[in-house]
Amino acid sequence: MLIVQALYCFNLHANLKKGQFGNVHCANYKNDGITALVAVKKTNFEEDSQDLKQKFIEEAQIMCHFNHKHIVQLIGVCTKGWPILIVMEYCALGCIRDYLIQNADALDIHHLLEYIYQLSSALKYLEEQNFVHRDIAARNLMLTNEHTVKLGDFGPGLKI
Ligand SMILES: Nc1ncnc2c1ncn2[C@@H]1O[C@H](COP(=O)(O)OP(=O)(O)O)[C@@H](O)[C@H]1O
Ligand SMILES: [Mg+2]
Repeated sequence: MLIVQALYCFNLHANLKKGQFGNVHCANYKNDGITALVAVKKTNFEEDSQDLKQKFIEEAQIMCHFNHKHIVQLIGVCTKGWPILIVMEYCALGCIRDYLIQNADALDIHHLLEYIYQLSSALKYLEEQNFVHRDIAARNLMLTNEHTVKLGDFGPGLKI
């Protein structure tokens, strides 16, 4: 896992979503000649909340074990300073819940079967890793494009 050390490497764009413990932003990463568009989940609670802080970092510790084309890829974490950042691949079309509502008329059965098949392959992979996600929901499935869904939000997940 890349340990991202410097907050100044990120130019955070507007909030994509306000979560319970973290807000998700689209961001430009720029450092050492590398530029990339990424998604950044940023703590939105006080620094002295040790339990929440630990839970937030655990999400990145869980994600760093996974490498699957239908699981949102962790890029790194930034734990130096405050807020803590979890840096992930950016899924340009956002969560599938919003997408399904906005594009209900344009989606046919082939699209939906494609999403089901892709999610099933991600769940099969997680089972092989002895891992339960515990929060499979449309709000936790992201789309990188209209044909590719990825499972995200490993906060409540558990290794068994
Ligand atoms: N990698 C990503 N790319 C684009 N949007 C994302 C990404 N991760 C999360 N989001 C957006 O942020 C929302 C909340 O993210 P999530 O990881 O589920 O956080 P929470 O723990 O607050 O539920 C998602 O429903 C989605 O709209
Ligand atoms: Mg979520």
